[in-house]
Amino acid sequence: MRIGILGSGLMGGKLGTIWARAGHEVVFSYSRSKEKLNKLERGARGKARAGTPSEAAKDADVLLLAVHWSRIDDVLKQAGDLSGKVIVSCSLPMNADDTDLVIAHTSSGAEELAKKVPKTRVVSAFGTVPSEVLFDVFESRRKATRPSLVYCGDDPKSKKIAAELIRDVGFDPVDGGPLRIARYTEPFTLLIAQLAYEGKGGPRLAYRFERFRE
Ligand SMILES: NC(=O)c1ccc[n+]([C@@H]2O[C@H](COP(=O)([O-])OP(=O)(O)OC[C@H]3O[C@@H](n4cnc5c(N)ncnc54)[C@H](OP(=O)(O)O)[C@@H]3O)[C@@H](O)[C@H]2O)c1
Repeated sequence: MRIGILGSGLMGGKLGTIWARAGHEVVFSYSRSKEKLNKLERGARGKARAGTPSEAAKDADVLLLAVHWSRIDDVLKQAGDLSGKVIVSCSLPMNADDTDLVIAHTSSGAEELAKKVPKTRVVSAFGTVPSEVLFDVFESRRKATRPSLVYCGDDPKSKKIAAELIRDVGFDPVDGGPLRIARYTEPFTLLIAQLAYEGKGGPRLAYRFERFRE
């Protein structure tokens, strides 16, 4: 797939690198440093290049949105017309100091995003893991027991694409249902962050869901 990365920081930089190494064509965009984007291009060792948000969006089969909530409008404006695009978003609706969600309970960042760009198909994914585990999960992706990753969205075709990308990183995709379920996955992320960053084990934390049957 052609994947445009909108926001090449901790999440976008790592996921884009992993997808390039998994064989996808990746365009890294949106950083304050052009040198950082060039470094990501070189480090990805695959079909990756640095570009602008509009270059990342052009011809992309899927876009990863990975910016702070306060940068969403800016990056979308720079990306241009996104009609018909699939947007996989890991961006969480966090306040300026990343201590709390600014949208919760009756809506979610993912739903607000879908309203901002109504002609796109939004899938919420990857928000529920700390960036620190991504390379480890990718490196051990052939193990029988994979960590889970919950995703949600309203469009079946876009969800199929997201599930493939989730598998490529090394997770077992768990379909959480429609996009409104992001109201529950986004607060869940705060639990994961609490366990990962405040817990004794350090930030390397992934989770696994098991369904118990009689
Ligand atoms: N980090 C995690 O573990 C984690 C986990 C789950 C969800 N999330 C969510 O994922 C999203 C991205 O998080 P992150 O940790 O990847 O953030 P990050 O490392 O800060 O990356 C954000 C990217 O946006 C770029 N950016 C910010 N302001 C800009 C500006 N004015 N002009 C151009 N580029 C600009 C940054 O540029 P620079 O390269 O110059 O910094 C960086 O490349 C957030 O919504 C976060 O809540 C993060």
